[in-house]
Amino acid sequence: MFARNLILAAVAVSGVHSASSASVCSQATATINSAADATALASCSTISGSVLVGTAAAGTLDISGPKQITGDLIVENAGELTTLSSSSIGTIGGSFLLNNLTILSTLSMSSLVTVGKISWTALPALPSLTFPATVSSAKSVLITNTFLSTLDGINLMTVDTLDINNNNRLKTFSTQVANITALLNVDSNGQNLDLAFPNLIWAANMTIRNVSSISLPSLATVNGSLGFYENYFTSVSAPNLTSVTSGSLAFVANPSLANISMPLLKTIGGGDLIANNSGLDAISFPALSTVGGAIDFSGNFTTPTLPGLTDVKGGFNMQSTTSIDCTGFQKEKNSGVIQGTYTCKTTADATSGTSSSGSSTSSSASSSSTAKSAAFHISANSQSVIGLSVIGGFLGMLL
Ligand SMILES: *[C@@H]1O[C@H](CO)[C@@H](O)[C@H](O)[C@H]1NC(C)=O
Ligand SMILES: *[C@@H]1O[C@H](CO)[C@@H](O)[C@H](O)[C@H]1NC(C)=O
Ligand SMILES: *[C@@H]1O[C@H](CO)[C@@H](O)[C@H](O)[C@H]1NC(C)=O
Ligand SMILES: *[C@@H]1O[C@H](CO)[C@@H](O)[C@H](O)[C@H]1NC(C)=O
Ligand SMILES: *[C@@H]1O[C@H](CO)[C@@H](O)[C@H](O)[C@H]1NC(C)=O
Ligand SMILES: *[C@@H]1O[C@H](CO)[C@@H](O)[C@H](O)[C@H]1NC(C)=O
Ligand SMILES: *[C@@H]1O[C@H](CO)[C@@H](O)[C@H](O)[C@H]1NC(C)=O
Ligand SMILES: *[C@@H]1O[C@H](CO)[C@@H](O)[C@H](O)[C@H]1NC(C)=O
Ligand SMILES: *[C@@H]1O[C@H](CO)[C@@H](O)[C@H](O)[C@H]1NC(C)=O
Repeated sequence: MFARNLILAAVAVSGVHSASSASVCSQATATINSAADATALASCSTISGSVLVGTAAAGTLDISGPKQITGDLIVENAGELTTLSSSSIGTIGGSFLLNNLTILSTLSMSSLVTVGKISWTALPALPSLTFPATVSSAKSVLITNTFLSTLDGINLMTVDTLDINNNNRLKTFSTQVANITALLNVDSNGQNLDLAFPNLIWAANMTIRNVSSISLPSLATVNGSLGFYENYFTSVSAPNLTSVTSGSLAFVANPSLANISMPLLKTIGGGDLIANNSGLDAISFPALSTVGGAIDFSGNFTTPTLPGLTDVKGGFNMQSTTSIDCTGFQKEKNSGVIQGTYTCKTTADATSGTSSSGSSTSSSASSSSTAKSAAFHISANSQSVIGLSVIGGFLGMLL
């Protein structure tokens, strides 16, 4: 009898051993459909491979035990899953993919710090994250179409791609990231998103759309383009920004924007586009010297202050419904500071790009236009704003 118990105990111990053996802990993909499936992985300290939560998973699923998943953690189309948790997982080497989880309302990962890629889409019942350890490292982050009102729990040190869009309830997002090396896109997250990048110094392409405030106190260089479209804010300030090196700077259709403050901005690799900002009555870029593309400002503003221009490789289109003084700009055109097509006028119909030749009834005009500028005008009228930011970069050069 005693001996038999010993044997059972030995079997139990060896059972634990086999659970942490290579076969369980390092399979290409471990599939979890139930609490029992999750328990089978509990003794693996590292799962060498990916974990797939199957569509049958329902209720609460706790994947505690493993500290690391070297591959992906994928949870898709599990329509009855309400809670996903892990007290132990600190690192997911691959993607942490959540997609189409219609009633998932709790995501609690109390040790999670490092993720290769966050990709979360269609999470209509998830209001917040329970990430007390805070995710501070991810190469790419895509969060789209969720019910999240806060992203507290994600505070990145570095990231290549950050794309936050269509999260209608999102109210604030602040992250300490210093460099965003490939792309920053924030778009269509409802009407009350306050965005803050207190430590962001260097970024590649940046597009900010539909936000109600933005804070960029440290931004020094954008290596790509920087565009602000359809935002609700009244001002944009980038006090440390010196260059937008290889793309355009664009402010388009920000109806309340009244103040653009970029006092140190010296170089723009592409064009400088300002259009359809109905509240913008004054424009000043006190340090702007070199523009690789065109300067294209249209709206209802007083004579823009551009005292430092030394080299505008593209064209110059300045059209305002308020009376502006073009004499200084005309001199810059004459002296070759402005190299491309030149238009500067006060007109009731201020449009971006140069208007097609002869068709304008401008009051005080000194303008010229060419086939090239007409091409710009047609393209600028295409409604794709994503296209526009590209146009700002490429066709702007032709103007
Ligand atoms: C989302 O998941 C449900 C199951 O919960 C499935 O019926 C539906 O087809 C999925 N939707 C998409 C777009 O995959
Ligand atoms: C940010 O990028 C710059 C330029 O590539 C680099 O010199 C710097 O070390 C980076 N900083 C961090 C925190 O990665
Ligand atoms: C920025 O966007 C432009 C145009 O889409 C692209 O050519 C360029 O490679 C991007 N830059 C980076 C660093 O991704
Ligand atoms: C973004 O802003 C534009 C212009 O104000 C508006 O038409 C559009 O509906 C907004 N989108 C969202 C998702 O808020
Ligand atoms: C602005 O740039 C200066 C000089 O590089 C630096 O000393 C300062 O800390 C920066 N300000 C912020 C808020 O990052
Ligand atoms: C800026 O981007 C260009 C390509 O768009 C790239 O060649 C260059 O190395 C980037 N500069 C830095 C500092 O990353
Ligand atoms: C524009 O914003 C800057 C920085 O926030 C501020 O110093 C300046 O006074 C503002 N200008 C106007 C006209 O409001
Ligand atoms: C332009 O701005 C001035 C001053 O703010 C205003 O009086 C005028 O009505 C505006 N014109 C148009 C066409 O919006
Ligand atoms: C400005 O708005 C007008 C009218 O909606 C549109 O035709 C034009 O394309 C817009 N300009 C830009 C640069 O988006």
